[in-house]
Amino acid sequence: MDYEGKVAIVTGAASGIGKAIAQALAAKGVKVAAIDRDAEGAKAVGEACGGFGAGVDVTDEHALTRLYVGVEKRLGPVDFYISNAGIGVSDGPGWGAGDAPNASWQACWDVNVMASVYAARHLARSMAERGGVFVVTASAAGLLNMIGDAPYSATKAAAVAFAESLAITHGDDGLQVHCLCPEGVKTPLVKGMEGGAQGLSGYIEADDVARILLEAFEDKRFLVTTHEQTPQSVAMKGTDYNRWVGGMRKLRRMVMDANSGKPF
Ligand SMILES: NC(=O)c1ccc[n+]([C@@H]2O[C@H](COP(=O)([O-])OP(=O)(O)OC[C@H]3O[C@@H](n4cnc5c(N)ncnc54)[C@H](O)[C@@H]3O)[C@@H](O)[C@H]2O)c1
Repeated sequence: MDYEGKVAIVTGAASGIGKAIAQALAAKGVKVAAIDRDAEGAKAVGEACGGFGAGVDVTDEHALTRLYVGVEKRLGPVDFYISNAGIGVSDGPGWGAGDAPNASWQACWDVNVMASVYAARHLARSMAERGGVFVVTASAAGLLNMIGDAPYSATKAAAVAFAESLAITHGDDGLQVHCLCPEGVKTPLVKGMEGGAQGLSGYIEADDVARILLEAFEDKRFLVTTHEQTPQSVAMKGTDYNRWVGGMRKLRRMVMDANSGKPF
């Protein structure tokens, strides 16, 4: 992969995985625009990376289009788009099914899915012409569910499907698409969830995710997982769905027992 002098937009770059990816790209000589709804955080990361940062809400399509024009003027045409900003909403018993309020479902849909759709709508064709790289940060939860957070699970599954659509539609045009599906990563997003089901598979550092992603750029691996068990669980789900659902129910019971029977 040729990095030197290329231009990247990284969303959700003020923190966690996005920040680590921004830093890893900058270390390779990429000019980075760090984007986050946390304007101060984005600016700090962007400037530390030798590029710039901006406070933008990725659910605002007009703000994003203005940003794309600004990035092209300041840094040049975009070669890497890392659509990484994401939210989860798990908050109470029943949120693993239908009890989360509509506003929480909508918020997850807007950030976890539509933000990638907007970026693809406005940038995918021109990026393809330059042999660009488009990354959708979904989650292992999009492949395997996240117990207790149905809006997160459903919208991350949609994010995986959207990344697939993008790869199928623009792969022949020259766009290199990756779907990043981490399991537990030590970031503010999962703070306080250590006792939950996802804690069982162990947490890695955000820098490890960035390293794994850049390795996947080299071998053009569409699905980028971070934990050994993720592809194994996906294979098992594919061959015996009932067994997989049964295993997830058992896991939910185990976590409830460990938390004094508190349902989630
Ligand atoms: N941490 C994990 O274990 C894990 C596992 C799988 C997938 N992910 C995914 O990785 C991505 C990054 O998460 P993280 O763990 O680094 O979390 P994080 O909370 O550290 O970072 C997410 C960033 O996204 C920003 N953001 C949220 N909504 C935004 C919006 N509307 N506009 C602009 N910025 C917004 C936040 O301000 C934050 O800086 C997310 O898509 C998340 O779903 C995380």
